[in-house]
Amino acid sequence: SDSDPLQDFCVGDLKASPSLNGFPCKSPVSASDFFFSGLGIPLNTSNRNGVAVAPANVLTFPGLNTLGLSMNNVEFAPGGVNPPHSHPRATEAGVVIEGSVFVGFLTTNNTLFSKVIHAGEMFVVPRGLVHFQWNVGKGKARLITSFNSQLPGSAVLPSTLFGSMPEIPNAVLTKTFRTDDATVNNLKSKFAV
Ligand code: GLV
Ligand code: MN
Repeated sequence: SDSDPLQDFCVGDLKASPSLNGFPCKSPVSASDFFFSGLGIPLNTSNRNGVAVAPANVLTFPGLNTLGLSMNNVEFAPGGVNPPHSHPRATEAGVVIEGSVFVGFLTTNNTLFSKVIHAGEMFVVPRGLVHFQWNVGKGKARLITSFNSQLPGSAVLPSTLFGSMPEIPNAVLTKTFRTDDATVNNLKSKFAV
């Protein structure tokens, strides 16, 4: 959903300040600007969520600047969860490369659409909707996801709400979640940055 390009390409010059939309064009360019090897590197999923994401977006692969798309490599330990999040600037399409993954998204009416899918199967998440994935297989799992934005952005709900700097006041979170300070403080302690 990015704007249409006005020339063949505009490899991003990440050292220049971002312009109104994206980065200024770098010059000269070479073949290497249009290739990226970062989606096949094995990721370390030993973390609390059991998931790791390697993005190929304009910041890691500047050749994508103005081209309106990007991709991620997402790896899961057994039981790993990519927590609920949303991409404000892109629809997401993904394909399972390995394993069995429970994939779901929520409509703005709070309906959950979900399915367990396996290697070779694809899913889509409409732009901006909250979604998650959970590795329900016995072994590891891996997805390749793609986005119709060079920088889709990701609002990860748990860390946005409980790990922000500065913090969201407890008065807001206790009322929002119909709970008490102790519960909110406990959650904040898990997401503190
Ligand atoms: C998965 O949801 C991803 O954003 O790569
Ligand atoms: Mn996503």
